[in-house]
Amino acid sequence: MPSYEETYAYLEKHVDALKTNKTGDERQTDGEVFDKKTLMTIYGLMTDGLIDRVHYPISTGKEGNVFYVTDEDGDPAALKIFRTSTSTFKRVSQYVEGDPRFRGVRGNRWKMIYAWVNKEYKNLVRYCDAELPVPEPIAFDNNCLLMEYIGDDSGPAPQLKDCVLEDPTDTYDEVVSFIVDGWRDAHLVHGDLSEYNVLMLDGQPIMIDVGQAMTSDFYNAKDYLERDIRNVNRFFRQRGADVIEDSVILDETLNGEDEEDEE
Ligand SMILES: Nc1ncnc2c1ncn2[C@@H]1O[C@H](COP(=O)(O)OP(=O)(O)OP(=O)(O)O)[C@@H](O)[C@H]1O
Ligand SMILES: [Mg+2]
Repeated sequence: MPSYEETYAYLEKHVDALKTNKTGDERQTDGEVFDKKTLMTIYGLMTDGLIDRVHYPISTGKEGNVFYVTDEDGDPAALKIFRTSTSTFKRVSQYVEGDPRFRGVRGNRWKMIYAWVNKEYKNLVRYCDAELPVPEPIAFDNNCLLMEYIGDDSGPAPQLKDCVLEDPTDTYDEVVSFIVDGWRDAHLVHGDLSEYNVLMLDGQPIMIDVGQAMTSDFYNAKDYLERDIRNVNRFFRQRGADVIEDSVILDETLNGEDEEDEE
């Protein structure tokens, strides 16, 4: 087993963010993003052959960062790293504790955040199994989630809020289908659906940030469903799409006719 120093030296070669900013305050910033546990987790993903190099941050936020990474073949992926901070802990606790799939996880900050990452991974699996447009999950460990990179050679896909839509109603219909089928087929409600958590790739919306998504039997799942519908309708109304009334979408989601069974 390599020592921490050896591991760190290895990481320095493979994680671009560790190559620079090694003095004073800046180092401290790095230390925050990549604390020792996080570095070891990234190292684990590397020795598992899932990542070869961590390039640049696609996004930096209060609760974590998303990095552009590549494997040994140079194929890209997105690595979402959660900060194990008190504020992250506070926000995620309610969702983890309330989720029947994670009953019994409480207390310890790290344990709770690890459960959260596990939850985001599981939700991605569920959406993918239902063939809904989300990044394909690849792996997770501790506070790190590795998933399909949504973007192309020119860079990561933009958020819906920053896009000029060719056909707003078309995009709107796709997002509404995600809400309806998400509930009916994946038995999930996203819970934080907005123009910030939809990426546009080749004219198609791809939904991200599914950590808080909960199963449709969650005690207040319906409230979250209504909020998602409201947010999506508000945004697309501004963009001039033909918006369907909230109550109609809600009814379709909860009581819609099942399509003919194809099996
Ligand atoms: N799979 C992905 N491929 C490409 N870019 C991604 C991917 N996942 C996330 N991103 C980028 O990273 C940003 C933040 O990701 P996400 O919404 O999942 O995290 P978040 O918890 O909301 O973080 P923040 O609080 O910083 O918004 C996204 O808006 C998007 O630009
Ligand atoms: Mg987000």
